[in-house]
Amino acid sequence: MAHSVTASAPGKLLLFGEHAVVHGKPCIVTAVDQRLFVTVTLNGENMFRLTAPDMGLEAYVKTIDELGGADLPNAVRFIEMLYKRFLERYPQNRGIDVVTKSEFSASFGFGSSSAATVAFAKALFEVCGVQASNQDLFELCYRAVLDVQGVGSGFDVACAIWGGTLYYVTPGKVIEKLLDEAPPLVVGYTGVKADTPTLIRQVAELKRKEPELVSGIFERIGELVDEARIAMSRGAFEKVGALMQENQRLLSKLHVSSAELDMLIDETIKMGAWGAKLSGAGGGDCMIAIVGKEKKALVEGVVRNNGELMRVNLGAEGVRIEKISEQ
Ligand code: PMV
Repeated sequence: MAHSVTASAPGKLLLFGEHAVVHGKPCIVTAVDQRLFVTVTLNGENMFRLTAPDMGLEAYVKTIDELGGADLPNAVRFIEMLYKRFLERYPQNRGIDVVTKSEFSASFGFGSSSAATVAFAKALFEVCGVQASNQDLFELCYRAVLDVQGVGSGFDVACAIWGGTLYYVTPGKVIEKLLDEAPPLVVGYTGVKADTPTLIRQVAELKRKEPELVSGIFERIGELVDEARIAMSRGAFEKVGALMQENQRLLSKLHVSSAELDMLIDETIKMGAWGAKLSGAGGGDCMIAIVGKEKKALVEGVVRNNGELMRVNLGAEGVRIEKISEQ
């Protein structure tokens, strides 16, 4: 019987459809080849211990009965809530020690929380000997994300589980793998960490104030996600670029872009990118530009000069078991 299990899950980048996806429209998301690793070890005690050095957390300890609570430090919230939900459904008589290790910074907006939640869930099911399909993982992880954050479409959870490039409709109503070649993207980090739940709430507030305007924007974003899906399947990347431009203009109308994002986006277009947009909630984090081979070096140069160039491969594998140790 397994005593200790390590699982890993990929980070993600949203290509099209952010914000509108929270309101029922589709989005396209791709997994990046930077992963988050979680090791779960059965400890034979009534204790939950967590060490997450990348999130600044050493030796966090609770008894099983104390799990949950409103005062959880950020670094443990998702993992602890998931564990609580897991135990409600699959009671166990042994506690666990958890250690996380990330290949990417939590600041980039690559979805470290969802990747940690998913990798933890995978390792937890395995070490406790409970069978779980991807769908079971999704339901439990998305539930934990909603417990903690209150809002969110779950696209990042789906991406961490299935990997590849996904067409997604909340709450997991459609999760479809797109089998096309990943688009040639340059990824730039603004240096500014954004707070996703705050931005989601700001957009919801704008929708309350200006329902017609915002519903019209969501409607058009939904259409262009479908157009982008077709263009990507044909390898029509200039067309994908034009759709990114339009998506960015619509996101600006929702007031979720920022001076840093706009600057990186404008500069990459000047250098010959076919299109560029923010990726994720906005307000900072990352932008993406789609660019042909001839202009790639120029576009990368301008990103390096004005922000941080992120070297990632897209369409990475979803959650997987890395190691199982017997007692
Ligand atoms: O900030 P990110 O990369 O987690 O992306 C958020 C995307 C939103 O559509 C704004 C929220 C969501 O949960 O879909």
